Amino acid sequence: MAKTTTKIVYLCSQCGADFAKWNGQCPACHEWGTLSEFKTSTKAGKRLSVDKRPSAGLSDLLKTPPLTRISTKIGEVDRVLGGGLLRGSLILLGGSPGIGKSTLALQIAAGAGRPVLYISAEESEEQIALRARRLGIEGAGLQLSGENRIETVLEEISLLKSELVFIDSIQTVYSAVLDSLPGSVSQIRECGQQLLQVCKQRNVTVIIIGHVTKEGVIAGPKMLEHMVDTVLYLDGDDRYDQRILRSAKNRFGTTNEVGIFRMDAGGMLPVENPSELFLSERTSGISGTTIYPALEGSRPILLEIQALVSAANFGTPQRNVNGFDLRRLAMLLAVLERRQGLVLGTRDVFVNLVGGLKVNDPAADLAVIGAVASATLDKIIPANTVLVGEVGLAGEVRSVSQLEKRVSEAKALGFKQIVAPAGSVKRLNFKPTGIRLQGVKTVREAFEIVF
Ligand SMILES: Nc1ncnc2c1ncn2[C@@H]1O[C@H](COP(=O)(O)OP(=O)(O)O)[C@@H](O)[C@H]1O
Ligand SMILES: [Mg+2]
Repeated sequence: MAKTTTKIVYLCSQCGADFAKWNGQCPACHEWGTLSEFKTSTKAGKRLSVDKRPSAGLSDLLKTPPLTRISTKIGEVDRVLGGGLLRGSLILLGGSPGIGKSTLALQIAAGAGRPVLYISAEESEEQIALRARRLGIEGAGLQLSGENRIETVLEEISLLKSELVFIDSIQTVYSAVLDSLPGSVSQIRECGQQLLQVCKQRNVTVIIIGHVTKEGVIAGPKMLEHMVDTVLYLDGDDRYDQRILRSAKNRFGTTNEVGIFRMDAGGMLPVENPSELFLSERTSGISGTTIYPALEGSRPILLEIQALVSAANFGTPQRNVNGFDLRRLAMLLAVLERRQGLVLGTRDVFVNLVGGLKVNDPAADLAVIGAVASATLDKIIPANTVLVGEVGLAGEVRSVSQLEKRVSEAKALGFKQIVAPAGSVKRLNFKPTGIRLQGVKTVREAFEIVF
């Protein structure tokens, strides 16, 4: 019988740090009220031993071939990862329940073409087989298991010589080292740590699936963010069938690429031309809407921005925004009031980026301000026009990045006019044909063109 030691620790549900004393505020991540008491009994001798890695000279390391990547055969996923799955990396795939994590995971498993172990303590093997049939997956080299004890999972990995492992989900596995329930912060952390070890020691790629709500309410998996190499979030609006895969952290690639999918009976279908998807239900002939040529990573996507302005019925006027920063909107409204003389202080303002994408590029300012002005004045912005530019406090329109890409995308989708910062237009090194490029220095100039 192994010796058992019991200890009380206070774990933070936000960042996973543990402390010997309780505190109102987590000393590590400064969140309030996140520490809770855990009794951990550790059975000695059960934990995997840690391999000590000898130190290595950098020049020797530079001679070894670069790390290999495994293509998932899904272009949208490869791009977000930075060119495919890196061998020996630990990846967290988070998202709200029902968003399509298991579906995407199974598609990645099938595409990778390596020995795959798919651990699903959440669904039965039959349920997964049913999904595989629906997705048209053959399943060569794919091993399913319903094991939920992490130590056994690790044994299976070495027995099957798996190169790619999925844990679906981290909330359902547990370690025999601890007494606490699966899904508890301490279990998630322990299992995450054991998986990290097997990743680095056996050069296995592990994808951990975790249920996370938009607000991060189920905070457990969130604390794994510090431990893993890459954090992917699958996002989407329940009302639409588009899904967006973005990386919140990537030790081996950029974090600004997104993958766009459409969810249907055949699974997560990559969307090659997102602009068409986002503009498919576009409203026209109505005031309060504009088109903004967004850039998501290296890819341009045209988005519709809608605004509604109405008399405020209750004391404080409401400002409500979807997909855009609320404080940024407040700033733009102030610019409209002071520089353009539009009265907004007594009106409710609603702004919506259609399709569930979130934009935090200030280049969207001009389109947002345009939509709000259009709604306030009840004047239509021509349907063949797109607007782009950062707006400053003086009402000036400032330069944006990569105007070429935005212009090309707008032109490809048949738009005839683009209103853009004069500074960016001057620096443009090609002369677009078939689309009129209007350089503007101020919001006023932009409004003179569109209204
Ligand atoms: N037969 C089907 N046809 C179309 N969509 C389906 C079908 N079965 C399930 N789905 C979709 O798959 C979603 C569940 O996906 P899943 O990958 O299990 O999500 P998660 O693993 O993130 O909880 C459901 O919300 C539903 O929209
Ligand atoms: Mg699932």
